[in-house]
Amino acid sequence: MTKNVFVQLLDVCKSFDDDEAIIKNLDLEIRQGEFLTLLGPSGCGKTTTLRMIAGFEIPTSGKIVIDEEDVTSKAPYQRCVNTVFQNYALFPHMNIFDNIAFGLKMKKTPKSEIKDKVHKMLKMVQLDGYENRMPSQLSGGQMQRVAIARAMVNNPKVLLLDEPLGALDLKLRKQMQLELKHLQKILGTTFIFVTHDQEEALTMSDRIVVMNNGIIEQVGTPEELYERPKTKFVATFLGETNILEGQVFKLKESEVLLQLEQEEDIIRIPNLNYELGDKFTVSVRPERIKIKLNPEEGDVWLQCKLKEKIYIGSNIKIVMLLKNGKEIVVNEPIGQNFEFLDENKNYFVTWKPDHTIVIKA
Ligand SMILES: Nc1ncnc2c1ncn2[C@@H]1O[C@H](COP(=O)(O)OP(=O)(O)O)[C@@H](O)[C@H]1O
Ligand SMILES: [Mg+2]
Repeated sequence: MTKNVFVQLLDVCKSFDDDEAIIKNLDLEIRQGEFLTLLGPSGCGKTTTLRMIAGFEIPTSGKIVIDEEDVTSKAPYQRCVNTVFQNYALFPHMNIFDNIAFGLKMKKTPKSEIKDKVHKMLKMVQLDGYENRMPSQLSGGQMQRVAIARAMVNNPKVLLLDEPLGALDLKLRKQMQLELKHLQKILGTTFIFVTHDQEEALTMSDRIVVMNNGIIEQVGTPEELYERPKTKFVATFLGETNILEGQVFKLKESEVLLQLEQEEDIIRIPNLNYELGDKFTVSVRPERIKIKLNPEEGDVWLQCKLKEKIYIGSNIKIVMLLKNGKEIVVNEPIGQNFEFLDENKNYFVTWKPDHTIVIKA
């Protein structure tokens, strides 16, 4: 086991009622004190995975280890984890103090200790002075803070959060993302966070697990996943990108020539034991591309024409067209003059070889 691994999923499978497996042979190591996010489209199995770590679902096969203890078939209350749900699940008939104190009361914690701990939590989630209010008197963001305080007051070793910000409007959501990340850093608790929002995952996480259809596509830091995606799914799910399909048509000693979408579009990539006919997906981020009248020495380039320019606030998005009709999206910061771009002229989209992301099919 790698050092500092705190939660471990070993070859975990899950199916419901003899149906096809929802989770397929999942192996995952979560480190102590990290902010780990399960990211993927709706239905890919994020909640099911989280519920198995929480103990609300038992794996069909495989093992779950928390803090060196096999908890695979243990009940939720026998694990040192707590869960925060998207719908808050506060007790409507209890005030905020009692909501947060609930777990401590169940454990028969002394009254004065409960009071201290609840007040410390209220302060931490910036709800000092709200203890006598009822949940119905709070905004969505405040209820979410209470839900987090209620989970954290029990001092869990792992906090599980299933799309906890999903019900908030965009502005509050962005604010809560930063608050939650800050809180996690202060407490040092291991957070396992679920979202389908790639921007949220990039903003908050130490590491992201990209899931698709019950399997893990890739695990890595936000930067690793964005800059060096290993699959086409990861390249397209995180951020915007341009995807081109290609095939090796010439082998050289240290590089190979890839033919992309059109006959004349040839690019060079390092030869990592590739063979003639090998198929590739090439991904290039819109912010890495420059439009030029003539490519410069060392550029990767493709011929194209202008389709349209779209202002999107901080950036201008320029859509170029390859001869085969394929669109190439280019992102440029505003403040530059693109008036010169003319629909009747020929241009080149260019980028540096380092920014060619090559994914073998
Ligand atoms: N209790 C259940 N019984 C049957 N199928 C389920 C159950 N829970 C989840 N599923 C199915 O498992 C798949 C993954 O669901 P879920 O883990 O909720 O995905 P996500 O959280 O990524 O949206 C979905 O197809 C869902 O319909
Ligand atoms: Mg879900």
